[in-house]
Amino acid sequence: MAGKTHKIAVIGGDGTGPEVVAEGLKVLKAVAQKHNFKYELKEFDFTGKRYLKTGKLVSDQDIAELKTFDAIYLGAVGDPAVKPGIIEHGVLLKIRFALDQYINLRPVILYPNVWTPLKDKGPAEIDFIVVRENSEGLYKGIGEFQKKGTADEVAIQVSYNTRKGVERCLRYAFEFCRKRNKKKTLTLVGKTNVLTYAWDLWERAFHEIGQKDYPDIKREYAHVDATCMWFVKNPEWFDVIVTDNMFGDIITDLGAMIQGGMGIAAGGNINPEGVSMFEPIGGSAPKYTGQNVINPLAAIGALQMLLDEIGESKAAADVEKGIKFACTKMKSMSAGKMGMSTTEVGDTVAGAI
Ligand code: IPM
Ligand code: MN
Repeated sequence: MAGKTHKIAVIGGDGTGPEVVAEGLKVLKAVAQKHNFKYELKEFDFTGKRYLKTGKLVSDQDIAELKTFDAIYLGAVGDPAVKPGIIEHGVLLKIRFALDQYINLRPVILYPNVWTPLKDKGPAEIDFIVVRENSEGLYKGIGEFQKKGTADEVAIQVSYNTRKGVERCLRYAFEFCRKRNKKKTLTLVGKTNVLTYAWDLWERAFHEIGQKDYPDIKREYAHVDATCMWFVKNPEWFDVIVTDNMFGDIITDLGAMIQGGMGIAAGGNINPEGVSMFEPIGGSAPKYTGQNVINPLAAIGALQMLLDEIGESKAAADVEKGIKFACTKMKSMSAGKMGMSTTEVGDTVAGAI
């Protein structure tokens, strides 16, 4: 709420995470001054480096502490020196699950002057949001090995979907679509033709809830494979998309590419009743670490989403204006090709505010 001091937990994380978060915090400082709100930061060292030294990831005590904040601002996780999966599970997924951040919100918006690989498509055509379920599905970690290490080995990985889990995600998406007030169309993205248990539940819940409580929202359905095709061919068909955890993970990487790349794609892990966490979706980009060449706009976009979530929507709107301004000054959204350094992009956004 405006007027109070916002407590923000900062996790710079691995690779270029701390560099992009620093630019986000620069912008936060500028926008807080302008809009006259106060904030307190506390940094948490949840990194691959610390794990290699101490074996520590995110503990239950850390989770209890994170629960006392108004929001979490995350840079990136993933260190090539640590076996894949350890930091991802021990930091990112641990926080998402323990704080029940059941929505992963990922806007796919092309800003003016940003290059897209799609021919004949521009900001008018690329403007939609993906609501990814963030607490269930294949990410639940249910499964087993049978006869591991033998020629008859079987690996089972289960997609776990509860009516309650699906319903809270669908309701969030319907509400979001109503508030967004654009095409008022919610598209369920699934695979009803093959995954006949999971997507039967999703599809039934989608139409039941929509018919009963959201008659003003048009409901559409698309298979996930066809959706990938339409992201490239007709992205203008989409307004709000709702999908499960795994499909949401995959299609939002494609979404990031059509909006100008990982350098500009932001996301929020949201618990509407709890503590949410905002992050650039691109990862730790180890090879660019420490070179002042990585694009901080995705992290600054994540800050914009954070501000919206904590009730500072005017500040959020100013951050978006600053991002759009920076886009008109930059040569490219790609690391090393921006025509500016990381810190200069941050200065440009902060300066515009
Ligand atoms: C993402 C990432 C994560 C995911 C990984 C790092 C666990 O790819 O945020 O999309 O799969 O959700
Ligand atoms: Mn991903």
